[in-house]
Amino acid sequence: MTVADLPKVELHLHHEGAAPPAFIRQLAHEKRVDLSGIFTSDGAYDFRDFTHFLSVYEAASTVLTGPEEFRRLTIAILEESAANGVVYSETFLSPDFCGGGDLHAWRDYLAAIQDAAGEAEAKHGIVLRGVVTCVRHFGPDKAKAAALCAAETTGDWVVGFGMGGNEGVGKQGDFGWSFDCAREAGLRLTTHAGEFAGPDSVRDAVRILGVERIGHGVRAIEDPDLVHELADRGTTLEVCPGSNIVLGLYPNFAAHPIARLRDAGVKVTVSTDDPPFFHTTMRREYEMLHEAFGWAKEDFAALNATALDAAFCDGNTRDRVK
Ligand code: ADE
Ligand code: ZN
Repeated sequence: MTVADLPKVELHLHHEGAAPPAFIRQLAHEKRVDLSGIFTSDGAYDFRDFTHFLSVYEAASTVLTGPEEFRRLTIAILEESAANGVVYSETFLSPDFCGGGDLHAWRDYLAAIQDAAGEAEAKHGIVLRGVVTCVRHFGPDKAKAAALCAAETTGDWVVGFGMGGNEGVGKQGDFGWSFDCAREAGLRLTTHAGEFAGPDSVRDAVRILGVERIGHGVRAIEDPDLVHELADRGTTLEVCPGSNIVLGLYPNFAAHPIARLRDAGVKVTVSTDDPPFFHTTMRREYEMLHEAFGWAKEDFAALNATALDAAFCDGNTRDRVK
């Protein structure tokens, strides 16, 4: 058995971002929508930088027009995750892409996604839970609508609230109302920080929003005091090395700070973010980390234990996955 064969826990996956390009092309064909501009001649997603990636992502999402599309997408995602040895996954679901923030529509999308997740669990044994996510560059008002959708559907399946999107737009603190609303509803919290903004964004995420996990968080490495603070607080980083490399943060795996963060006592986990966009899978992330840092089975077992500990699901679900 190689390290890539180990069972894996993934905490950071965007539902729309996990849509294979062929799946999106098929929907575009069915709906007679011309999306040729977002694909390379080889059929991969085509983008040149982070903001362009976000617009290609949003263009691809335009053909995910209803609950049925999300049901099909969920089956496709979980088949791929299970084939990569993922046993537990948390996916970011955005009401903005599932009914535009309308609560009644959101309920229908969520029911279809949960239904498909149940089917995939019965077939492949993989367990999925949802983290409702607002999109930062859509602004605080849209984030409020997302938080209200999250608060109304919280339970043992919708387990968290988070924020993705362009970290260059606004500040973490602009979204305080939404994170307070989600926390009061009993949801666990995470936000993207320290990906395209520096250490201050990570500091604001833990101190102002009060999140217990950070999406990426890798640029904390630029501030040794912050690295200590994250280690002391026990904040878990949802690190996505392959994503960071494709989006130009680091030239390769060997230059990625995940090993230095881990060695400084920060809780790190590994995820794929938007796997087909970044030509990656959970297997590949493990293989590349093994190659770059010599991480062995024990290291990956510890990484998975950290991830399961930081998972937002209830204890029964955690025990079932162990
Ligand atoms: N949405 C999807 N992928 C993202 C990323 N890597 N950063 C911020 N928002 C995202
Ligand atoms: Zn992400």
